[in-house]
Amino acid sequence: MILKLHALCSFSQRGIKMPERYKPLRFSNAGMRGLKVSATLSLNDRVREMWETGQDVYHLGFGESRFPVHPKISEALKKNAHQRSYLPALGILELRETIARFYEQKFQLKVSPERVVVGPGSKSLLYALTLALGEEIILPRPSWVTYAPQAHLIGKPITWVPTFPEENFILNIDTLQECMAQSQQELGNPELLIINSPNNPTGTMMPPEKIEELADFAREQGLMVISDEIYALIAHGKIPHTSIAQYYPEGSIILGGLSKHMSLGGWRFGVAILPPGRAGKALRDALQTIASSIWSCVAAPIQYAAIVAYSNDPDIDEYITLCTRIHAIRTRYLYNTLVELGVPCVEPTGAFYVFPSFKKWEKALAARGVHNNEDLAIYLLDKYHLATLPGTAFNCASNSFCLRLSSSYIDAGTDEKATKLIEAYKANPNPTTFIDQHHPRLKEVAARLAEFVHELNQ
Ligand SMILES: Cc1ncc(COP(=O)(O)O)c(C=O)c1O
Repeated sequence: MILKLHALCSFSQRGIKMPERYKPLRFSNAGMRGLKVSATLSLNDRVREMWETGQDVYHLGFGESRFPVHPKISEALKKNAHQRSYLPALGILELRETIARFYEQKFQLKVSPERVVVGPGSKSLLYALTLALGEEIILPRPSWVTYAPQAHLIGKPITWVPTFPEENFILNIDTLQECMAQSQQELGNPELLIINSPNNPTGTMMPPEKIEELADFAREQGLMVISDEIYALIAHGKIPHTSIAQYYPEGSIILGGLSKHMSLGGWRFGVAILPPGRAGKALRDALQTIASSIWSCVAAPIQYAAIVAYSNDPDIDEYITLCTRIHAIRTRYLYNTLVELGVPCVEPTGAFYVFPSFKKWEKALAARGVHNNEDLAIYLLDKYHLATLPGTAFNCASNSFCLRLSSSYIDAGTDEKATKLIEAYKANPNPTTFIDQHHPRLKEVAARLAEFVHELNQ
């Protein structure tokens, strides 16, 4: 069996001694492992503070899709406000059946409803899966802010596998193999790989042939793969989204949800598609134990509204396509701006992120007291009011001078603004006109970036 379940209670640890000043609170080891509030959330707080004191900040830091709730979905939520009972921990059958059909129609994956589980956000499901599966985790570097802290919280060692801009940050099998071999000597057995395409923070996607190659390698090595496909429907059209579950169903778990393509992050709704057969069934049982012990179930009205969100309704499909096209135009505008300014940046093909590096200006930056990614993010925030996330948040080396810029928020901060963007795009989808006429703030971001690069080139 490829899936190896973690003994659920073996990680519990004894509390450690705390400084007197915290008494009577005593934190466990897990709580004290140097974890900080998620970088994205703390940046968001800082930006909000600046806004509250009347400062105008261009928020490129928060990866939240901002389009309004589709009317059919908000209607379904209203209609189900009276649903107040606990529901099955892994989701009601009608919802799981609907999601199975969605995955079949959208991704050509044959999925039975028993393989579908839902949770309060894919983040919670990821935590439950990391808790239930394997002992050691393999993570690409860079990767999404949450993977490493979750592994730390649960007490599982991480094997880092570097990825490189020259290779579009795509996981290289030889490098993966080398890192695994090294870890086998030092740590034990790295056996749970987390991948993410379209990718946060780089915006790149794994092409189908690379996914197939990785699937073959994973099968050969008996690796379990969690494939975070939360941005699957925000592919810009250059590379088709492909799930590893297409080639390696027995060893892969897909994560998805409504946060990105439906802009419903705050509704907290995530999906996991488990492997078929007995291994998948055992994992399902483990998830049921975790879910029923921690969150009980996804809020009842949300489960009923999610049935509509996953119903393959043509109006909702059209809305998803529309929002995706808008994300693509805005993200490509940021990318083109950076490239025209001579800032090295890999081309994004999905999601709403770009991940440039300012390393070539290392000396000019040092002269300004900027010595690492964090200094750079602070410099841009303080001097240019551009809020970005430092590459370190994604586990990049601090001297990589990488930043993640998200296009999702600018000029779409409120429902009213986002609705106007949709109307404008429908009236004229030409990307140049769309940006020129309807994105004053995005254009200002481009102007400020140009000013910054000009300053560095002096
Ligand atoms: C790669 C990735 N996975 C998962 C999530 C979180 O999704 P959810 O809202 O379903 O917890 C995010 C959100 O930023 C993300 O970027």
